[in-house]
Amino acid sequence: MEKAEIGLIGLGTMGSNLALNIAEKGHRIAVFNRTASRTDAFVENAGTLRDMVVPCYSLEELAAAIRPPRPIIIMVLAGKPVDEQIAALRGVLSANDIVIDAGNANFRDTMRRFSELSDSGLTFIGMGVSGGEEGARHGPSIMVGGTEQSWKRVEKVLTAISAKFRDEPCAAWLGTDGAGHFVKTIHNGIEYADMQMIAEIYGILRDGLGMGPKQIAQMFAGWNTGRLNSYLIEITAKVLAADDPKTGKPVVDIILDRAGQKGTGKWSVIEAQQLGIPATAIEAAVAARVLSSIKDERLAAEKAYGNGGVTRISADKDALLDEL
Ligand SMILES: NC(=O)c1ccc[n+]([C@@H]2O[C@H](COP(=O)([O-])OP(=O)(O)OC[C@H]3O[C@@H](n4cnc5c(N)ncnc54)[C@H](OP(=O)(O)O)[C@@H]3O)[C@@H](O)[C@H]2O)c1
Repeated sequence: MEKAEIGLIGLGTMGSNLALNIAEKGHRIAVFNRTASRTDAFVENAGTLRDMVVPCYSLEELAAAIRPPRPIIIMVLAGKPVDEQIAALRGVLSANDIVIDAGNANFRDTMRRFSELSDSGLTFIGMGVSGGEEGARHGPSIMVGGTEQSWKRVEKVLTAISAKFRDEPCAAWLGTDGAGHFVKTIHNGIEYADMQMIAEIYGILRDGLGMGPKQIAQMFAGWNTGRLNSYLIEITAKVLAADDPKTGKPVVDIILDRAGQKGTGKWSVIEAQQLGIPATAIEAAVAARVLSSIKDERLAAEKAYGNGGVTRISADKDALLDEL
C-alpha cells in the first residue's frame, strides 16, 4: 500500500478533525490512538475519506505506514502525556524523523523537548494550532517552530490544510524550537483581552443602560458589519440572541458565571512581565477569569459587604452607544 505522507497520534476532538482535514486535502494519513476503540470509531465515521486513512494499532505499525523522514503529529492532552508519547516514539522512529507537538504547550516546554531530542537524531516541531474544532476540520491557523529543514518536509501538508486569508495560507514557519508555541500563546493572550472587553461592554449595556440580551445581540450584530467584524463579535451576537429550549430564558442568563482557563493567558502575562512589557489588558483579563472562577468567595464577599447594587448610567444613551 502507498505510504502515508504524515502520521497523527490522538484522535480526540482536535486530532480527529485535523486528520480528516489532512485526508480531505488529498494527503494519506496514518493514525493511532491510545484507546483502540476510538481509532475504530474514527475510521467508521471517516465516510468518503476512509481510503485516505491508515488506521494503526501500535506505534510500530504507525512508523511503518509513513514515508520517511516521518512527520508524526501528537495531538494529545498537553503536559505529561506529550512527554510520555515522545519517549514512546523514540523507540520506533529513526534519524531525521519529525515529532510534532500540536497541542497547547508552554513554549518553554517546547524548547526543553527540542533540546532533549537533539542528541537522538530526531527533530522536534512545536506547532500552535488555532481555530478550535471547526478550524481543525476546515482550516486552522498554524504556527510552526523548529528547524527550517523539518518545516520544508511538512510545509506542503500544513499549507494545504490551513485557513486562507486573501488567498494566503495561514501557516508559517516562525523560527526555531518554541517560536510557534510562543506566538500561539500570545495570540491566545490577545484573545483573552478581546473576550474580556466584550464581557465588560456587555456589562455596561446590561447594567448601565438596562438593555436586555436580545437588544444587546442586535448591537453586536451591527458592530459585526463594521470595522469590528470578527469571529468573536459574530458569535457573541449569536449567543446573546439564543434562548434555552428547556426554560425559554436567554441562554446567557442561565449559564453559570464562572469561567475556567487552561494557561495560555497566564503564560502571556508571565512572559510580558519577564520581558518588562506592559500587557495590561491581558493582565486584567486573566485577573477577571480568576475572580470569575472563585464563585464561592464572591458569594461570601457579597454576603458580608453587599453587592453594591446596579448603577444606571445617566448619560445620553445614543451618545454612549456611539462611544462604545
Ligand atoms: N479543543 C480545542 O478547541 C483546542 C484548540 C487548540 C488546541 N487544543 C489543544 O489540543 C490538544 C488536544 O485537545 P483535544 O480538545 O483534542 O482533547 P480531547 O478531545 O480531550 O482528546 C484527548 C486525546 O488525548 C489522548 N490522551 C490523553 N492522555 C493520554 C496519554 N497519557 N497518552 C496518550 N494519549 C492520551 C486521548 O486518548 P484516549 O482516547 O486514549 O483517551 C485523546 O486522543 C490539547 O493540548 C489542547 O489544549 C485544543
